Amino acid sequence: MTEPRLRFHPDKSHRITFLTGAGISAESGIPTFRGEKGLWEEFDAEELATVEGFERNPEKVWAWYDLRRTQALQCKPNPAHETIAVLEKSGFDTAVITQNIDDLHRLAGNDRLIELHGNIWKVKCTRFCGVWEDRTAPYPHLPPVCACGSLLRPHVVWFGEMLDESILASAYMRLGETDLCVVVGTSGTVQPAAGMAGIAKASGAYVVEVNLEPTPISDYADESHFGKAGEILPKLFGEYLEQN
Ligand code: OAD
Repeated sequence: MTEPRLRFHPDKSHRITFLTGAGISAESGIPTFRGEKGLWEEFDAEELATVEGFERNPEKVWAWYDLRRTQALQCKPNPAHETIAVLEKSGFDTAVITQNIDDLHRLAGNDRLIELHGNIWKVKCTRFCGVWEDRTAPYPHLPPVCACGSLLRPHVVWFGEMLDESILASAYMRLGETDLCVVVGTSGTVQPAAGMAGIAKASGAYVVEVNLEPTPISDYADESHFGKAGEILPKLFGEYLEQN
């Protein structure tokens, strides 16, 4: 088998944008949503990832997030996250737009990070008090309650909810000016993220896809590399990384 190689040769004048999904964290032990053993095979998205489900049974929803938060504590970035972080540290103009809430890009060391669907370590008061980081895991009592007495909810985007407008605006701005767009580990099925590689492509970016299998993005990607992100990304970008 031949080694995967990039046909686009980035230099430090190029803007590189990684669009990542659950597949990039699979090798860190975080389950994906779709496919065999995907979370949505085992759990009901309607019950656990909608406002209506939360209103019906906040304790059940929190128990699921509490479990995911507790599991996330055991997980570390893998070589795919690390490659992207070292590229940023090596002086390349990189940004990561992620659908993941698992915080692994930040843990790997990426600062230029746009989290489309929120963050598992943030909570939001369901009334007025705002959003903040809360790393309690597990919670001693469920559902957790704000100091004002209202319920807290995970600061993540659920089905049927709009994404934060300012986050979306910064994602679109970056996509419009990107030279190389690398899409890693997403099934490309959930909007608006699913359309983002297409927006980059329409704005002139060269699109590279890394996934275990073909997706709708493969139809227009300039190159697709099929296999594990933790194996492929270090090979694609290894020659550009400065060892510190
Ligand atoms: P999915 O679970 O839909 O897709 C994961 C993708 O990663 C699939 O295309 C797999 O083939 C691929 N994959 C799995 N392991 C991989 C590996 N080791 N290396 C490379 N690729 C791998 O996850 P997303 O596309 O991220 O939204 O899902 C999008 C959104 O749907 C999520 O953010 C979540 C979910 O419902 C919300 O909760 C709002």
